[in-house]
Amino acid sequence: MNRLRVLFLGGTGVLSAACVREFLAWDVDLTVLTRGRTHLRPLPEGVRSLTADVRDDPATRAVLGDETFDVVVNFIGYTPEDVRADVARFGGRTGQYVFISTGSVYARPAPSLPIVESSARRNNGFEYPTQKLRCEEVLEQAYRYEDFPVTIVRAAHVYDEMVIPNLAGWTTVARWRAGKPVVVHGDGTSLWNLLHARDFARGLAGLIVNGRGVGESVHITSDELLTWDEIHFSLARAAGVEPRIVHRSSEDIGRVIAWMGPVLGEDFRHSVIYDNSKIKRLVPEFSPRVPFTQGAREILEWFDADPSRQRVDGDVDAAFDRLVGDRDG
Ligand SMILES: NC(=O)c1ccc[n+]([C@@H]2O[C@H](COP(=O)([O-])OP(=O)(O)OC[C@H]3O[C@@H](n4cnc5c(N)ncnc54)[C@H](OP(=O)(O)O)[C@@H]3O)[C@@H](O)[C@H]2O)c1
Repeated sequence: MNRLRVLFLGGTGVLSAACVREFLAWDVDLTVLTRGRTHLRPLPEGVRSLTADVRDDPATRAVLGDETFDVVVNFIGYTPEDVRADVARFGGRTGQYVFISTGSVYARPAPSLPIVESSARRNNGFEYPTQKLRCEEVLEQAYRYEDFPVTIVRAAHVYDEMVIPNLAGWTTVARWRAGKPVVVHGDGTSLWNLLHARDFARGLAGLIVNGRGVGESVHITSDELLTWDEIHFSLARAAGVEPRIVHRSSEDIGRVIAWMGPVLGEDFRHSVIYDNSKIKRLVPEFSPRVPFTQGAREILEWFDADPSRQRVDGDVDAAFDRLVGDRDG
């Protein structure tokens, strides 16, 4: 039997690198297209690598030539223009086109929980999810009226060992180790969803190898419900420190650290619970395996293995000092 021919746009990022490793384990014929600039997660043996900037359409078309694929997965579509270019490029040349979208397109606060694929989607008030939603709309139209074989896959919050999955990143651990508290938004009890990239990759590979999902949208998220405090507790435990936390409202944090305001205020402050029945129906063997306690240990091992990875954001550190000092913690 011919091996499945798969093209990834992207391939060395958080999600895509894990997917590269997982897809190779399924013995697919895998090609990735990147600019060749990101080297933190190098490509393993057995992957064909093409180099082009996907936003440079002539260059992308030149490296792709007249090749056809069974599946194209776009990990780097962020604007309607990005995906319109793909509809033009890959129409008639792929049996399935998978757009990696985000759970942040679901309305916040969720009108009802748990979130299922038919839950309300709306402009959530900041650029990233709004643009992803517009991408989904372009692709849904292309599926309905142009026979473009779209699958929309929504990830929630995905991390690997190189990512501390909060907005402050390593500054969190550095502050604890310096005996200082960390600021967590709200009262720390809103529910969040963290999925290890290896688990995301297992879900995506299962979907594609099983040949499922054209015309569908599906989210691939964790079954684990975590509060933001619990996320910080796991990180602290893995770092071998007491989790000193001070709670401040999303508004107060946003006033001091402007770039955090929209993400906290429009997204992280709201509880999310996802229903994963659909991905499990499409991929019966899918079940997330990495609890965040384990993910946190892998993160700390990676950061502690090389001090050059431990970058403190001086602005966030100073802003946390201010937020902590404004009132008693
Ligand atoms: N992380 C999350 O929590 C999360 C949650 C929901 C959805 N998502 C979605 O997941 C996707 C991100 O996947 P990821 O984590 O693998 O990405 P990533 O970490 O941002 O990595 C981007 C990858 O694409 C390549 N790339 C970037 N710009 C390019 C360009 N103009 N032309 C060609 N290649 C380019 C990069 O390599 P070069 O730099 O070498 O080009 C790299 O391989 C996005 O669609 C995002 O919306 C992520």
